[in-house]
Amino acid sequence: MPALVLLGAQWGDEGKGKATDLLGGSVDYVVRYQGGNNAGHTVVVGDQKYALHLLPSGILSPDCVPVIGNGVVVDPSVLLFELSGLNDRGVDTSKLLISGNAHIITPYNVTTDKVTERFLGKRKIGTTGRGIGPTYADKINRTGIRVQDLYDESILRQKVEAALDIKNQMLTKLYNRRAIAADQVLEELLGYADKLRPYVADTVLVLNEALDAGKVVLFEGGQGTLLDIDHGTYPFVTSSNPTAGGACTGAGVGPTKINRVIGILKAYTTRVGAGPFPTELLDEDGEALRRIGGERGVTTGRDRRCGWFDAVIARYATRVNGLTDFFLTKLDVLTGWEQIPVCVAYEIDGKRVEELPYSQTDFHHAKPIYETLPGWSEDISAAKSFADLPKNAQAYVKALEEMSGAPISAIGVGPGRDETVQINSFL
Ligand code: GDP
Ligand code: IMO
Ligand code: MG
Repeated sequence: MPALVLLGAQWGDEGKGKATDLLGGSVDYVVRYQGGNNAGHTVVVGDQKYALHLLPSGILSPDCVPVIGNGVVVDPSVLLFELSGLNDRGVDTSKLLISGNAHIITPYNVTTDKVTERFLGKRKIGTTGRGIGPTYADKINRTGIRVQDLYDESILRQKVEAALDIKNQMLTKLYNRRAIAADQVLEELLGYADKLRPYVADTVLVLNEALDAGKVVLFEGGQGTLLDIDHGTYPFVTSSNPTAGGACTGAGVGPTKINRVIGILKAYTTRVGAGPFPTELLDEDGEALRRIGGERGVTTGRDRRCGWFDAVIARYATRVNGLTDFFLTKLDVLTGWEQIPVCVAYEIDGKRVEELPYSQTDFHHAKPIYETLPGWSEDISAAKSFADLPKNAQAYVKALEEMSGAPISAIGVGPGRDETVQINSFL
């Protein structure tokens, strides 16, 4: 019963979509367990490029069942748009399963996300504006709307009216916005009910039965470890648990079922939105990483902040996720640098610190201590085995592995499915 979790080891956009898609042909189920359409996962198959936001990347593998777990927040309009976009391109999406317990991103959650960010001004988080935080807040506040509520109009009405009673006070009195009419929200939500009905299922039962029957299940994280609401750089985080434990709560599968946890790790670092980032480069190297790496957000189109690899972050990801493997992506982007600095520790108030400080004040003061590794100039995009890589690229990978605390079992040398060097099998 192999169950694997595949998650972001940094601040998101590590290449989770590509890694999931690569395994998609060998797994029976791919499950999103948290987040929503704040994610942007790019999958390149041949000359076709897909940007997935809500759908698990397994949707592109014909024999794989894609599952949206209970821990995900679902914007039905985005989901239906994404499904029809894929259908238009000839992708069969009929196997999709959506948990009835997943929460719905309502139009007022999207409005709340936007107005609160505006209200925060300079202190804003830089959210994707997709209503993610407010929807999770409603969930925890026990005022959320779930997918299954679409199938009981009277309960749905009670819940929407109760939620809007408070939110409209806030919108009109605090944020100087127009009130939102419950009838309008209800009409919109009920309009999705029939369209979503074929997909709604008891996904917890389905997944546990599948595992008992020896099927292979892959849990695909959105965002990344440092964006985790508990373990990330709070408050500059998302509102869910991308870390490994999130797969259990967000899919209803016990921790004893999970055999492997793979951290997707970019060969350098990127971040979108506000918050601390010790190795950020505000110089021409940062600009070059952004240009060569194509570091522009899939969801919001924002430029990603870029910096050198941070081994302190990687070690932290190994620890909080219990990583068994790393998938190192975008090694090809570093081709051409004569020297590549790697952050091995931080200097905080004059002291050398090896591990991520738990104090946000210390983290804000952290200055990277770099070791410089020799670069390579040979094109590595056609490499198929570790031995095909130039000696200095091999040494870079080995150095990162030693610093990061888990074996690097695969290396991305380009965006395509085939542009991967597999060192250890994941299955
Ligand atoms: P995700 O959110 O973790 O799925 O990552 P994104 O899709 O937001 O960003 C990763 C980007 O890097 C995408 O454009 C991928 O096509 C691309 N990518 C993934 N792996 C590699 C790789 O090994 N090399 C290169 N050059 N690009 C890659
Ligand atoms: P994938 O799955 C990178 C960031 C936002 C913001 C913070 C909170 O493609 O790796 P939110 O809208 O979630 O409340 O925003 O989290 N963020 C991401 N950054 N990749 C993502 O997803 C992200 N999803 C959210 O930029 O800083
Ligand atoms: Mg992304």
